[in-house]
Amino acid sequence: MSVVNLVPFCQTILKQMKQVDKREISLHYEESPILILADELKIKQVIIILLDNAIKYSHDKIDVFLDKNGDNVIVRIKDYGIGIPQEEIKNIFERFYRVDKARSRKTGGSGLGLYIAKSIMKLHKGEIKIKSKQGEGTEVELILSASLEF
Ligand SMILES: Nc1ncnc2c1ncn2[C@@H]1O[C@H](COP(=O)(O)OP(=O)(O)O)[C@@H](O)[C@H]1O
Ligand SMILES: [Mg+2]
Repeated sequence: MSVVNLVPFCQTILKQMKQVDKREISLHYEESPILILADELKIKQVIIILLDNAIKYSHDKIDVFLDKNGDNVIVRIKDYGIGIPQEEIKNIFERFYRVDKARSRKTGGSGLGLYIAKSIMKLHKGEIKIKSKQGEGTEVELILSASLEF
C-alpha cells in the first residue's frame, strides 16, 4: 500500500487511455491533492475496468469526478450511454454476468470486470456503487478512505 495522489494519478491513466481510444474523457476536481492509501496497481485496474465499460456501453463523452467528503474520497465515472435496467443492477457484480448476452458478440468482454473491481474495493475496505438509468447512462461511485500524509 502507498499514498496515491489521485489527480495526477488519474491524469496519467486518462492519457494512457487516449492512446488506445479517441473518446473524450474529462477529469473534474475542486481540490488537490486528494490522497488515498492504496495498492496503486489494483486501484488503477479498477478505474480502467470502469472506463472500459463506460467506453463500451456509450458513445458520448465520459466524465470522471474526484471529490473529498469528510474522511472519504469519492471517484465517480459517469457515462451517457445505454444504461442498465433497474432490475439488473443487483446482478452485474456477479462473476461472468452480462446484461445482454447477445451483446457479447459485438462488444466482447467476459462479465468479470465488475466482479474484479468489487473484489479490489473490498480489499481496500472501500465501496463501489452503481446508479444507472436505461437510455440515459451510468454512474459508478468508488468510496475510499482519505489519507492525510504523503
Ligand atoms: N457503464 C455501463 N453501461 C451499461 N452497462 C454496463 C456498464 N458497465 C457494466 N455494464 C453491464 O454490466 C455487465 C458486467 O460488466 P463487466 O463485469 O465489466 O463485464 P463485461 O464488460 O466484460 O461484459 C456488462 O456486460 C454490461 O451488461
Ligand atoms: Mg467490463
